[in-house]
Amino acid sequence: MTAPDTNFLPYGRQNIDDDDIAAVVDVLRSDFLTSGPIVEAFEAKLCQITGASETVSCSSATAALHIAALALGLGPGDWAVVPAITFLATANAIRYTGADVIFADVNPDSGLMTAATFQAAIDINSDKNIRAVLPVHLAGQPADPVGIAAIARGKGIKVIEDASHALGTSYMVGKGKEPHKVGSCTHADMTVFSFHAVKVIACGEGGAVTTRDPSLAKRLRLFRNHGMTRASEDFTNSELSSDDTGVINPWYYEMTEPGYNYRLTDIHAALGLSQLGKLDQFTDRRRQIVARYDERLAGLGACLHLIAHIPACQIGWHLYPVLIDFDTLGLSRAVVMSRLRRLGIGTQVHYIPVSDQPYYTQLYGKHDLSGAQAYYARVLSLPLFPAMKDSDVDRVIEALERVLGSAI
Ligand SMILES: Cc1ncc(COP(=O)(O)O)c(C=O)c1O
Repeated sequence: MTAPDTNFLPYGRQNIDDDDIAAVVDVLRSDFLTSGPIVEAFEAKLCQITGASETVSCSSATAALHIAALALGLGPGDWAVVPAITFLATANAIRYTGADVIFADVNPDSGLMTAATFQAAIDINSDKNIRAVLPVHLAGQPADPVGIAAIARGKGIKVIEDASHALGTSYMVGKGKEPHKVGSCTHADMTVFSFHAVKVIACGEGGAVTTRDPSLAKRLRLFRNHGMTRASEDFTNSELSSDDTGVINPWYYEMTEPGYNYRLTDIHAALGLSQLGKLDQFTDRRRQIVARYDERLAGLGACLHLIAHIPACQIGWHLYPVLIDFDTLGLSRAVVMSRLRRLGIGTQVHYIPVSDQPYYTQLYGKHDLSGAQAYYARVLSLPLFPAMKDSDVDRVIEALERVLGSAI
């Protein structure tokens, strides 16, 4: 086995300390290895942090997106709008239900769906039964929650925010008003978070849906756990559920729609709960790193651009993408990535337009989404994680200067 290169800076990395390890070990010594009191505490903490009244944790954000789509009753004949620039899971979760995906374009400089690109997607698909939209808060930046919700509400379209990147992000609505937290669901029916290892906080694998709607929360919990209920008021089969005198059988449970096993475990929740206690610390450090990158990269040259920053918000940055004009530079992205790697700098591309994936082109044909293409052609995520030192940021910038050379 070769020793890990401790000098290598990946594009993202979890931040685990002794408290996190102790929290997980405590669970391993307890009675609950599956969903128990720590999952409940984790969900309560997420409600407190986001301001939502209900949190339904899941084994991943992919599972959370799937049950959110199911909770809305999406199925064959229904359509949902998804930005072309996102991770596969946002679109795939819609397909799991049998519903179809409309890919919306994005702003070429932020990668975000906007009210205008959402409206355009609706206009060219006016013959379709559009039931949901899934704005993606890419890199942690909010994708116009107010503008998109206004259009959606006017048309009876439900909003599932994919905030997998955006725990800790808040945005202002109007001057001098209180900020709205992503996940509070003031401009969405449901919000989904990911706690995959490199996200803002880690469970290892994990996700959650927040909502303010108790009936949606009830459906989410059903779909998370096989579709089964033990609540006697929900039983429909009195012959099976009770004895001759009408007393409920103590072993009885019932399923009216098939669900999944998408539960989070107490082991994962213990890590997540411990990490949530450090959320402010993590997001503060991420903001400092972003500010340092922004300041030092802004003057670096005509071929490298910062992504467009969304004004009037506090961002819980998950990624630090920059836009590089590789064609003008005369260097391919692959060459830049491998030269950076040789200098100990990991980078990644977030994301290939999902609409270009063979599965989706076979299903829907080729899309002409110029904003998504322009973003994808230039984007490269640089290392961003809370344990980075200022000198690490400077190392990334020096490596970029060396690799991009005088052309920038
Ligand atoms: C935007 C987005 N949505 C959904 C997911 C799926 O998250 P998970 O890995 O927790 O299933 C990811 C994961 O990278 C993501 O980036």
